[in-house]
Amino acid sequence: MSRKIIEVQNVKRFYNIKSGFWKKAIKNVEAVKGISFHVNKGEIFGLLGPNGAGKTTTIKMLTTMLIPSSGQMNILGLDPVSQHKELRPRINFILGGERNLYWRLSAYDNLAYFADLYKIPRTVQQTKIPELLKLVDLEEAAHRKVETFSKGMKQRLQIARGILNNPEILFLDEPSIGLDPISARNLRELIKSLNAQGTTIVLTTHYMFEADELCDRIAFINHGEIIAIDTPGNLKQHTNRQSVVECNLVGCNEGDLRTLLNEINIAPNELHPLQNGMKVRIATEDPQKLVSWLYSAVQFTVADLSITKPSLEDAYVAMIGGK
Ligand SMILES: Nc1ncnc2c1ncn2[C@@H]1O[C@H](COP(=O)(O)OP(=O)(O)O)[C@@H](O)[C@H]1O
Ligand SMILES: [Mg+2]
Repeated sequence: MSRKIIEVQNVKRFYNIKSGFWKKAIKNVEAVKGISFHVNKGEIFGLLGPNGAGKTTTIKMLTTMLIPSSGQMNILGLDPVSQHKELRPRINFILGGERNLYWRLSAYDNLAYFADLYKIPRTVQQTKIPELLKLVDLEEAAHRKVETFSKGMKQRLQIARGILNNPEILFLDEPSIGLDPISARNLRELIKSLNAQGTTIVLTTHYMFEADELCDRIAFINHGEIIAIDTPGNLKQHTNRQSVVECNLVGCNEGDLRTLLNEINIAPNELHPLQNGMKVRIATEDPQKLVSWLYSAVQFTVADLSITKPSLEDAYVAMIGGK
């Protein structure tokens, strides 16, 4: 199970941006600053990071759409730069917000169109396309125009398109962006079942919950650098702030509370105003000390206090240092 099917070594990617009135000044943006990681066969591997972190750039390099400025990549034993022709038929990708479905065509005809591009014989298509439509739960909508579809239905059709060629690795860039919670959950189930059938999945997301639920391993990426790679469970444990204190502080306002916490060098993970105070979530190495400080403070009264384990988001905040 632990055969490496993707290896990335010190990959960098710059973008040249022309700026200025005559577009003569060229600014060099380093979108990906020398990342290294591997993906094992059969894994769901996640790249998790905020907007602008370099996730899409990384996915584009892995899927042969963008050439790295430097560094090495090996995917399925192939070099995606010099052997892209051999690699392309063995992988597939779905980029977030991409409009590469034909809205005037039905779901069935969209898949038939892409199946022709993959040179899948018509006789094979006749069984394959209905199978795929069933898998993504679009059987009943098979002959409806895609323009009448909900976002969730379109995204499921994208998945069907993405697995038409039976890819060994499927790359998904922000698969659930813009989906309602139910559609997003259905999509996660679909991703899991594809993976259970043997497809290795590489996905990007900025949703902690999604990464936590789906991924076998996660790389935290920020400003073009990988800060940590591990299983969600280990990422949560390895933060030095082993406990999270959650409570309501009755009788204080946000400004005063921030000042107070600042004085004792505490950066809260979350602060939410309540009708009569503030709800706080604080990750800490020393919950005992924090709790006694909270109870001794005269500026508020503590209510509904609980001490829990860090979530993936807590680990992320601890490592990246604020949102
Ligand atoms: N085509 C481009 N030209 C110039 N800069 C780009 C281009 N694409 C992305 N960037 C910049 O590279 C950085 C990483 O972008 P991206 O890979 O899209 O991040 P993410 O997908 O994590 O949001 C950002 O600073 C972004 O502005
Ligand atoms: Mg992106």
